[in-house]
Amino acid sequence: VESNEPPSDALPVAARDFLAPRLLLSGTGSSARIGQALRDAGTRDGNVVVVADRVVSEAGLLDATVGGLANAGFSPLVFGGVAGEPDAQLVRDAGEFARRHGAAAVVGVGGGSSLDTAKLVALLAVTGGELTDVVAGAGPGSHVAPLALVPTTTGTGSEATRIAMFSVGGRKRIVNSPAFVPLVAALDPQLVTGLPGPVVAATGMDALAHAIESILSRTRSSLTIALAADAAELVIAEIEAAAIGEAADARGRMLFAAYLAGLGLNAGVVLGHSIGYVLARRAHLAHGVSCSLALPYCVAYARSVDPHVVARISLAVCGEVGSDLDDCAVAIEQLARRLGLPVSLQEVGIGAADLDELAVEVVRDYPRPNNPVALDEERVRRLLGFMLEGDVEGACAAMAEAVPA
Ligand SMILES: NC(=O)c1ccc[n+]([C@@H]2O[C@H](COP(=O)([O-])OP(=O)(O)OC[C@H]3O[C@@H](n4cnc5c(N)ncnc54)[C@H](O)[C@@H]3O)[C@@H](O)[C@H]2O)c1
Repeated sequence: VESNEPPSDALPVAARDFLAPRLLLSGTGSSARIGQALRDAGTRDGNVVVVADRVVSEAGLLDATVGGLANAGFSPLVFGGVAGEPDAQLVRDAGEFARRHGAAAVVGVGGGSSLDTAKLVALLAVTGGELTDVVAGAGPGSHVAPLALVPTTTGTGSEATRIAMFSVGGRKRIVNSPAFVPLVAALDPQLVTGLPGPVVAATGMDALAHAIESILSRTRSSLTIALAADAAELVIAEIEAAAIGEAADARGRMLFAAYLAGLGLNAGVVLGHSIGYVLARRAHLAHGVSCSLALPYCVAYARSVDPHVVARISLAVCGEVGSDLDDCAVAIEQLARRLGLPVSLQEVGIGAADLDELAVEVVRDYPRPNNPVALDEERVRRLLGFMLEGDVEGACAAMAEAVPA
């Protein structure tokens, strides 16, 4: 097994370009200011299409955003049909809605599912054609309608990223363009006070996965590490009060943590998300649940990581600089357990007979050249063997045996 890690003195200042929303609005009521922010950014008059989660829409959580758009002189039109992770048909329908109404701008309100749909709609609004062709052509030069994003879950950080995802035949299609980083994002804590505790837990662990995986990523930079380390620290501090205790202020801080972790995603994710996608597909799990289950094992797989980087993760996860990655993997697994999230493959209905195929899918479908240790099918298969019964200590010991030079 090969180490992908750079020499320990080679912490890059900026391995990749860094993108962030042009404007971040935050605080109670900030979603009402989206309209004026779009106006100030020079958006033309006309219809603004609000792509929203169905539950969020029915709960009246769009009122502030819609009212703010009307106050700024726009005509808001709601497409409130997002229910769960988007598939191609939903994206086509929403895109068609936006084109038919000549959207001057697109606003996404909801969890990652709605925000990703809104990104694709903003692309389809200006680039006509069949969805598959439009997304195949998406990239650095893409243009989208002016875009604003308002998260109502505490995890994906989609409001900060260049990624949009939808499923085609059960497979995740990942579309990547700088144009998907919105003009405006709003973190309005009022929108997450009624979020069910289990959704706070699962999406919060997704934010932790973004933070830790982006720090482990070989394409990290000093900037992404700083943001992600703060995100991880915040999640560790707040997630239990937010998910189990339902504390409103803790939920607001989780929203901020998810945003910071989303900025950390400028460095990309690593093995944990590869395993997460494959498990979600096989066992029909929510994105946050599958990424939470995978995260301790992603940390166990990582070896020969720069000691400075390990210290940052250790401080965030274990509250001290001296722990090693194995201690962090165990601490993360224990946190997931306390939150009531599944911590073994058996718990989600995956059996020993599935593991060979899963290992192939992880390495074939979601390769990660930026993972600290190269993805190797046999090693991943071994790791999954320990995940079967939730034996994270066993995984750490086994992965340590084959420490790359
Ligand atoms: N673009 C990115 O960078 C990025 C990053 C991570 C994940 N994702 C994608 O995001 C999707 C998952 O997003 P998610 O985890 O936020 O889940 P989600 O958007 O599917 O929402 C989860 C559930 O919470 C409900 N909900 C949302 N807000 C609510 C509120 N305020 N009150 C009550 N219920 C509410 C929804 O109706 C839904 O049932 C996946 O498709 C994943 O691929 C994207």
